[in-house]
Amino acid sequence: MPDDRLSPDRILELAGEAVQQIESCSDPAELDSFRVKYLGKKGELTLLLKSLGTLDPADRPKVGQAVNKAKKQVEKSVAEARERIEQEAAERARAEQKVDITLPGRRRMRGSLHPLTQILEEIVSIWETMGFVWEDGPEVETDWYNFKALNFPEDHPARDMQQTFFVDGSSRRTDVLLRTHTSPVQIRVMERQKPPVRMLCPGWVYRYDAIDPTHYPMFSQVEGLLVDKDVTFGDLKGMLNEFLHKLFGPETKTRFRPSFFPFTEPSVEVDISCFACGGEGVLAGRNCRVCQGSGWKEILGAGMVDPALYENTGYDPESVSGFAFGMGIERIAMFRYAVDDIRLFFEGDLRFLRQF
Ligand code: DAH
Repeated sequence: MPDDRLSPDRILELAGEAVQQIESCSDPAELDSFRVKYLGKKGELTLLLKSLGTLDPADRPKVGQAVNKAKKQVEKSVAEARERIEQEAAERARAEQKVDITLPGRRRMRGSLHPLTQILEEIVSIWETMGFVWEDGPEVETDWYNFKALNFPEDHPARDMQQTFFVDGSSRRTDVLLRTHTSPVQIRVMERQKPPVRMLCPGWVYRYDAIDPTHYPMFSQVEGLLVDKDVTFGDLKGMLNEFLHKLFGPETKTRFRPSFFPFTEPSVEVDISCFACGGEGVLAGRNCRVCQGSGWKEILGAGMVDPALYENTGYDPESVSGFAFGMGIERIAMFRYAVDDIRLFFEGDLRFLRQF
């Protein structure tokens, strides 16, 4: 009796069932179990092929063809199902990552220049239009550059105006120190450059002042030096007025008061009228807080270069003359932005810095 399982119709029916199961399958493991069930070593179609030998030789070709056709159908549907399942998985993954356009955007933190840097850039750009060139000098200096070459004699009381950090493990007074001002760069530039000179030197300076709202052991200055032939006090006044009007506005009034610095003669301190109260000293019926009611604000020190400096740097005091000036950047920034505590510039508090 012929094995019913080996009739070509039955074989193709089996293939049809297999294809249906495979097509409805959505999971890779499940698909693999169907593949094994029909096509594996002991799979139903594999076994059918193996049992061809039990048939009557006359029936073998027809049945053989049917089994092979069934195998091809099942193989094809397995391959198609595998591709479909992979695609579905990829689509699912993509859908999970979809952008939710109803969510609020992520704001990027934008940095900005520190207020001291902003003021410094303004100062530098004004002097650059007058031909001044940025120069640098060391923050660790020797007594010669910081004091002696600038005409501060040993033990002169002018040294006491600048509380000095000496660089020495034992805290004794030595020849090496943290510069107390940017003026030593005047000496260094005259040493390395022949006249004429127009230089600007911004930088950190150090003094062992106790910290309070207007003092900090580290602060910054901008130094300026112009040396040429026949430079007069009129040139100093004209250029400083030009600078102050550009920095603080053309309506600003300036005042030059006699003063003393060892490295300039004559020396002046320069005040500008308070921009907050317009120089009145009174604002909204009360003492102006920015200038403490005086109507003026001291902004820089200046003077004609003392001939001793020319002698110390190899310039001929008979043939050159010039002027110098120095200003504190924090002081100017505090005035400009009405900031009443110098510490705010160094604390890095974003609530403060974001306002600039
Ligand atoms: N070096 C002075 C200080 O720190 C500031 C200064 C005053 C600089 C007058 C100058 C100047 O160049 O001419 O107090």
